[in-house]
Amino acid sequence: MSESERLALQVEHVKALQGRYEEAMVAQGYDGLLISSGAAPMQYGDDQGWTFQGYGPFLHWTGLAGFEHAWLLIRPGHKPLLSLYQPVDFWHATLELTPEPWHQEFQLVFSESREAPEFDGVNQLAVIGDPSLLTGVPGSHNPEPLCAALDETRVHKTAYEIACLAKANVLAVAGHRAARDAFLAGASEFDINLAYQQATRQREAQAPYHSIIGVNEHAGTLHYQYYDTATPPKSRSLLIDAGVRYRGYCSDITRTTAGVGEGRFSALLQGLEQLQFRLCDMVAPGVEYVDIHRRTHQGLAALLSAAGLVSGLDEEEMVAEGITRAFFPHGIGHFLGVQVHDVAGKPVPPPSDAPFLRLTRTLEPGMVVTIEPGLYFIPSLLEPLLTGPLGHHLNRELLDELQGCGGIRIEDNVVVTDTGNRNLTREAES
Ligand code: GLY
Ligand code: MN
Ligand code: MN
Repeated sequence: MSESERLALQVEHVKALQGRYEEAMVAQGYDGLLISSGAAPMQYGDDQGWTFQGYGPFLHWTGLAGFEHAWLLIRPGHKPLLSLYQPVDFWHATLELTPEPWHQEFQLVFSESREAPEFDGVNQLAVIGDPSLLTGVPGSHNPEPLCAALDETRVHKTAYEIACLAKANVLAVAGHRAARDAFLAGASEFDINLAYQQATRQREAQAPYHSIIGVNEHAGTLHYQYYDTATPPKSRSLLIDAGVRYRGYCSDITRTTAGVGEGRFSALLQGLEQLQFRLCDMVAPGVEYVDIHRRTHQGLAALLSAAGLVSGLDEEEMVAEGITRAFFPHGIGHFLGVQVHDVAGKPVPPPSDAPFLRLTRTLEPGMVVTIEPGLYFIPSLLEPLLTGPLGHHLNRELLDELQGCGGIRIEDNVVVTDTGNRNLTREAES
């Protein structure tokens, strides 16, 4: 899709939001809603700020990820009022707004003040955003029922949002290719990160989340957060979980690569990828997301048996006894949007067999989810199994060998369509 097609869709997106927001506000008895874009807090005892990440509802309307101290006023029957903070400041540059078609749908003002804009004609005002920025602003702050109703407006993505998520996938895939090539050429975690950043033309601070880049056993730490500057003596595996933010929208992609000569690990990787394809294929309207999670455990049980890692137990027993959970301790995925873990995924809490699952809904067209099965060798989870009553079913020798490869995760971003699904990540790779 071309840039101009996306921009045309954005105008429709804004109109759709106006309708969704008006409905939510009227139902809750508000005739005005003021949204703060947020601002990076200062570090305690210092004059340095933390990295800024914009507030979800502001991004949902504007996609403007870099504007701090901005405000947006929504009123039924009125154009939204967007007030952007543009101080005269010789210490910092001020962000400029390049004219785009969606601006026509807003009343746009620029302010040298961080204060909320002045307006009248509102009787019942709600104000949402970081509470530390709302002090002194009149109105009802972050009212729970309204916030929940607004979160609900983000569950079904508009055509514009899906186009942005698709583009965020295309951009990130270029980074993942560069990262894989760097790993295979013997780069360190630090240099793999640089390769990813260079290919995606994205600063770390702009990324939707801190890229997870684990070589060898580091791949077994789910959210591994450091980058070794040295290459290990032998590069056995790479797990990279990294995305790109495009016009506010996030991609969230994980790829695992086996090092040269890692036959066993490579076979497991292929097995997990086959399972991941089947799980992505399950995405369709009417499907319970938790069923995809449960199917993952069944598939992992089969894979662990076939690989000779577990023996003497049938697949059902392996799941029931928590063996698959030790290899795959997280949930199968989550909603994706202007937040990586997008809101409103859990109208009901997750079941006890999936405590970390972030999405407990029945899938409907327009939802965008991640599908991210994993298979890890995490000593703190495997050791109790190995030393427990089921330990003799596990192949310690093989586990010891594979532990140096850390683990595998494969993560795609998938749209629920009217008839099935659209895999934005595989599409970007093809
Ligand atoms: N990148 C974090 C996650 O996959 O949920
Ligand atoms: Mn991820
Ligand atoms: Mn994810």
